Amino acid sequence: MQLLNERMKSMNMAGGLYDIYQKSLKMEAEGQSIIHMEIGKPDFDSPVLAKEATIKSLNAGFVHYTAMAGIPELRKAIFEKESKANGIIFDPETEIVVTAGACEAIQALMLTVFNPGEAILVPSPFFSAYSEAAHIAGVEVIEVPLKFENEFELKAEDLEAAVTPNTRAVLINTPGNPTGAIIGREELGKIADFAKRHDIMVFSDETYDQFLYEGKHVSIYTLPGMKERTVVINSASKVFSMTGWRVGYAIGPAPLMRYVNKVHQNMSTCATSFVQVGVAEAYLHGQDFTKKMVEEFKVRRDLMAEGLRAVPGVELVVPKGAFYMLPRITKLGVSPRQFCMDLLEKTGVATVPGDAFGKCGDGFFRLSYAVTRESIVEAADRIKKYVEANY
Ligand SMILES: Cc1ncc(COP(=O)(O)O)c(C=O)c1O
Repeated sequence: MQLLNERMKSMNMAGGLYDIYQKSLKMEAEGQSIIHMEIGKPDFDSPVLAKEATIKSLNAGFVHYTAMAGIPELRKAIFEKESKANGIIFDPETEIVVTAGACEAIQALMLTVFNPGEAILVPSPFFSAYSEAAHIAGVEVIEVPLKFENEFELKAEDLEAAVTPNTRAVLINTPGNPTGAIIGREELGKIADFAKRHDIMVFSDETYDQFLYEGKHVSIYTLPGMKERTVVINSASKVFSMTGWRVGYAIGPAPLMRYVNKVHQNMSTCATSFVQVGVAEAYLHGQDFTKKMVEEFKVRRDLMAEGLRAVPGVELVVPKGAFYMLPRITKLGVSPRQFCMDLLEKTGVATVPGDAFGKCGDGFFRLSYAVTRESIVEAADRIKKYVEANY
């Protein structure tokens, strides 16, 4: 009997993050002190106002299917947020689909835009769901290196060097996971020109748009001539610390979004009804919550950077956004996988090997500083002692 189709047989199941996470949980259950820096989630509770609105709607019986593209109140609330925060102006009736997290939006897009065998340019290292969603849809991923020397900022010239005749889109992610890098306005302009010259689409994952420690987020969607070829992907997961609520969205040209909505209908019908009510409340009134969280994360970023700078042989770009760092460990002469496993076993600090985020992550490891200040100081100290004793 055949269990798997051909695509699943070549699905990457290496699970660089999963292995570490499983092991860290096991060690914790055995009583060891673990500092969890492997998972990308804020350590804050979700906003109270979102919880209260959700509970109220649940108690009022708002428990059935909703409009597939999302309840109108939520689409309008997202419009309020996007137009004010990012200058993104769109039609809430026809140009947005609310999904079960950004991940569903990414998967639906991959299934909607490409013919099998067509390619997408993905700056690497990248959020691992990109390549997995591409693989499920039969889309070829062309990895475009993000260079340490450029502070991991994507460069249009590197896209130019990688583009092929069957490339249909480029996926950008600013602020980025796992690098924490942002793409500045000037480079976004060059990337926009590149996309227009090759007549390809841009998927712009802006999940961390509020996590900026310097300057302000710029969306490529707002640059001249880009609205018609850009799909913005975003999510309530990180900015409101709502990773388990599973609400994200995609904003793009109406003729495309009609079909994205169709694919989304077949995958999940609609985002959970009462959850949408709470998320709408967060987009309308949750700005202070996000602001306070980001202020705290800036302090943590600085603490983390200070701690890592003291570790011999470890090189660091201090990230301008998100809540990750991707230190380089090539000078230590050890593979990231070996380093992260050993670090976990000997010190209890859980981090992720960089190559879990694509080929160009080799030579790096990622840590999330969305943990308490005390944990950051303690983790940096453990890493320093470990490296000094072993390399
Ligand atoms: C860049 C990026 N995009 C999207 C997501 C997924 O977001 P969601 O929880 O909305 O599916 C993540 C989660 O880590 C991410 O890092």
